[in-house]
Amino acid sequence: MSSPADAAADDPAMIAILRGVMDPELGDNIVDLGMVRSARREGTVGHVTVALTTAGCPLRATIKRDCETRVAGLAGIESVRLHWDELNAAEKARVMERARRTARDSAAPTQVPAGTRVLAVASGKGGVGKSSVTVNVATSLARRGFVVGVLDADIWGFSIPRMLGMERRLGARPPGQGEQRGKIVPDQRRVGDGRLKVVSTGMLVETEETALMWRGLMLAKAVEQFLHDVDWGELDYLLIDMPPGTGDVQMALARLLPQAELLVVTTPALSAQKVAVRVADMARRSHMPIVGVVENMSAFTAPDGARWAFFGEGGGERLAADLGVPLLGSIPLEPAVSAGSDAGEPVTRARADATAALAAAVFEQITDRLVTDICPPVDMGTCTARMDGPIPVTIGARRS
Ligand SMILES: Nc1ncnc2c1ncn2[C@@H]1O[C@H](COP(=O)(O)OP(=O)(O)OP(=O)(O)O)[C@@H](O)[C@H]1O
Ligand SMILES: [Mg+2]
Repeated sequence: MSSPADAAADDPAMIAILRGVMDPELGDNIVDLGMVRSARREGTVGHVTVALTTAGCPLRATIKRDCETRVAGLAGIESVRLHWDELNAAEKARVMERARRTARDSAAPTQVPAGTRVLAVASGKGGVGKSSVTVNVATSLARRGFVVGVLDADIWGFSIPRMLGMERRLGARPPGQGEQRGKIVPDQRRVGDGRLKVVSTGMLVETEETALMWRGLMLAKAVEQFLHDVDWGELDYLLIDMPPGTGDVQMALARLLPQAELLVVTTPALSAQKVAVRVADMARRSHMPIVGVVENMSAFTAPDGARWAFFGEGGGERLAADLGVPLLGSIPLEPAVSAGSDAGEPVTRARADATAALAAAVFEQITDRLVTDICPPVDMGTCTARMDGPIPVTIGARRS
C-alpha cells in the first residue's frame, strides 16, 4: 500500500516529529526502527505511511493516535492521513535486531519503560495550579489501579512531596559524583488499587551542602542527572510537574523522554494571549504534542449558590481553541483543593461522591477522559510477530 503522495520527497519536519512516536514493544521510535515508509505533505494534508510488524498489531491504535497528534501540530498541516503497510520478513528481522541492540546498549538499571505514557504538566506562567493538577490527576489515576510515577521537575520550587504527604528522604548521591545510575528509588504509596511512585529534589536534599550542589547545577543538567538516576520500575503513567516558564528544562525533558506529551494548565483570565503563544512555542521547540488544556481556578460557587468568577471566565476555552486541542475540564476555585494539598491528601484520594468537593468531581472527569480517550494506557497486548516480552528503553539512550 502506498500513500497518494509517494512521488514527493519526505518532509524533514514530519520525519523529525515522528521520531517522538515510540513503538513501546520494540523500545525505539518508529523512524529509527525503519517503520515510516513515507511522510509527505499534499497541500495542508500530511500523509504518513507506517509499516507494522503485523497488520493485526494491537499497538496500531496507539501508533496511529501518536502519529496523528504529532503531525497535526506542525505548521501548515490541517489534517493527517495514516496509511498502513506491513514489514516484509527481511525488514522484520532487521527491526528485531535493532530493537535487541537498543535494549542491550541501554541495559542500565534506570529506565522509564517504553510503554509508559508520559505527561508533562506545564503552563505559560507560574502559580496557575500545575502542581495541584499533577497531584490530583496522579492520585486519581492510581486509585483506578495504575502505577503512576510523579516526577517533580521543579528543582528549586519543589512542592510535590508536601502536596502528596510523601516527604521521606531518598538516599541519593550528591550531583556530579560519578556515574551511578539507578540509585534513586522513588518513595511509594498505595492508593486504591494502584500505586504512586514519587521523586522530587525536595526528597534528595539531605544537607545544606547537597542542596547547594543541586542548586549549583544548570537546571537542565539537574533534571538530566535526576532522570538518569531514578529507578522507576514498572510504570503505566509518568506525570511530570514542570517548573514555571519555558526553556531549558522543557528541552531537556523532550530530549530524554521523546514520548512526553504536554497537558497545559491555565486560569480563566481572558487576557492570557501571551500565554498561548508561549505554550505553543514550547511545544513546537520541544516537539511535544499538546494533549489538552485544563482550566484551573474557575468560578467559585458559594454555599448560597452564588457564582464568583474571581479570575474571569472563558480563558480555558479560548486557549484550547487557539492551540487546537480539547478543553478537558474547568476546576473550580475551592478551599478543599488547597487544604488537601496542604494536608498531603489530594481531594481525589477518595472516590468523589455527593458530599465531595466539586473540584474532585471535575478532576475525575478529566482523568476519565485521559484514560479512555486522550491518553489511554498503552495496551501491550500480544503481537505474535514480536519478541518474547517487552524491551525496556533507557531514557537518554538516544542521545547523540
Ligand atoms: N482549584 C483551586 N482551588 C483553590 N486553591 C487552588 C486551586 N488550584 C490551586 N490552588 C492553590 O493555589 C496555589 C498555587 O497552586 P500550585 O502550587 O498548584 O500552582 P503551580 O502552577 O504549580 O505554581 P508554581 O508555578 O509556583 O509551581 C496553591 O496554594 C494551591 O493550593
Ligand atoms: Mg508548582
